[in-house]
Amino acid sequence: MANKSVWSDNRFWQRSATWVTGFASILLIWLTLDTSAQISMGNDEDLKNGVQKRVPGPTVINYKITYEMDAKRGHEVPVIGEKEKFFGRDDYSEEEAGALLHLGKLGEQAKNCMDCHTILGNGAYYAPDLTKAWIDPAWGPEGAMQALTGKNTKEEAMAEFLQHPDQYPTHARMMPDLGITAKEAKGLVAFLKHMSSIDTNGFPRNFGKMQGAVNGK
Ligand code: HEC
Repeated sequence: MANKSVWSDNRFWQRSATWVTGFASILLIWLTLDTSAQISMGNDEDLKNGVQKRVPGPTVINYKITYEMDAKRGHEVPVIGEKEKFFGRDDYSEEEAGALLHLGKLGEQAKNCMDCHTILGNGAYYAPDLTKAWIDPAWGPEGAMQALTGKNTKEEAMAEFLQHPDQYPTHARMMPDLGITAKEAKGLVAFLKHMSSIDTNGFPRNFGKMQGAVNGK
């Protein structure tokens, strides 16, 4: 008994298992609480007071969103700028903006965008990642999509494309007409705009290269 190795001692393993399980549980609880706090959605007050939340409130659709390099973090981050009109308005209330996002979320689920696209890391890579589609310069004033759709704003160009994707084939792969109505398209574009404002730690990593996914530029 005196020379018995600690490695063959049952109690040693029992105690180790207890400690490891205990430590891992505490770590997981702490990580869960930390993550919940980090991803809790902000509100209109935060936006008005310039408090930058990882997931801004729905009324972020009233603001201009750009994507800028953050040297310290080593990747691009969404930056919420000045007020910007969205379908002619920049004064959506929390309820109105929330209702638009809700409509977009329902549309996204009903039409199963994730069958082909990736949204916040979930979905497929048959078609461009949609997480930052709103800030894809292809939709901007100099981008190909405004000219192609004959629209003067980003949101109108995107809504037009979503309703008739088969009329604007720009890619080897064409997005099929999913029967999206004008109302649904507005919700979907709000959903895409809000999603682009979420700080995803620079995900998707290759967004810089994918910018202009629509027309390869
Ligand atoms: C059957 C596959 C499929 C489904 C389902 C689908 N898409 Fe697409 N989508 C595509 C393809 C392919 C392209 C690239 C088309 C092109 O560039 O001409 C595309 C392009 C896009 C673009 C332009 C991408 C960019 O980077 O700017 C947007 C925005 C978009 N889709 C939104 C949606 C939304 C929202 C849904 C769900 C309501 C959806 N798509 C459902 C296949 C699909």
